[in-house]
Amino acid sequence: MKQAMVAPSILSGDFAAMGETVSNVEKWGADLVHCDVMDGRFVPNITFGMPMIKAIRPYTKLPLDVHLMIVEPELYVERFCDAGASFVTFHPEASKDPRGTLLKIKNKGVKCGLVINPDKDFSLVRDHMDLVDMIVLMGVFPGFGGQSYIESVDENIKTLSEEIKKTGRNILLELDGGVTQQNAAKFRDLGVTVLVAGSATFKAEDKAAAIKVMRG
Ligand code: DX5
Ligand code: ZN
Repeated sequence: MKQAMVAPSILSGDFAAMGETVSNVEKWGADLVHCDVMDGRFVPNITFGMPMIKAIRPYTKLPLDVHLMIVEPELYVERFCDAGASFVTFHPEASKDPRGTLLKIKNKGVKCGLVINPDKDFSLVRDHMDLVDMIVLMGVFPGFGGQSYIESVDENIKTLSEEIKKTGRNILLELDGGVTQQNAAKFRDLGVTVLVAGSATFKAEDKAAAIKVMRG
């Protein structure tokens, strides 16, 4: 059976105790910490910025997977790298220069990636398959945790997983939004290698057990 890495989103964690939250995520056996940055413009919600990434960095050894839902990410990516991000991903349609933005992240020695909404086609990533370390497929429209997975994204996962194989590069395929203990196995079979799990982790009674189930 295929396994996947699990990345709990701290959007569903305790904002009054984020240090403790990320060290718990590590104790529960997760592989990455997913950090959802929202600016109230690209998405209709506001969360946190670079100071939060810097503040939580000392509380875990796990990689920080920073998902930027912001307009003009090119203006901020380097500061997220300096704050301690291990991965920085952004939505290409939010940037005037997606390739230049990817290069800014890479030049900082940080892994880079692009995020595709459920209604966007892959032409936005195809030109950059030579650069990206990760491609993130949204399973929901970004902005809020706890939404239900949009089933038509299955097709996107299949197609993209094939296209990644063809590149021969080691590109992670992350699914973000709507992942549960019940549907995780299907996504692993379709080729997802990183499962973001906000509510599926934090709402579970036994968080470590939930992570284990999703990892497979
Ligand atoms: C959605 C965020 C997701 C979200 C996932 O805007 O990008 O990372 O927190 O939440 P769940 O796992 O609860 O769907
Ligand atoms: Zn996210």
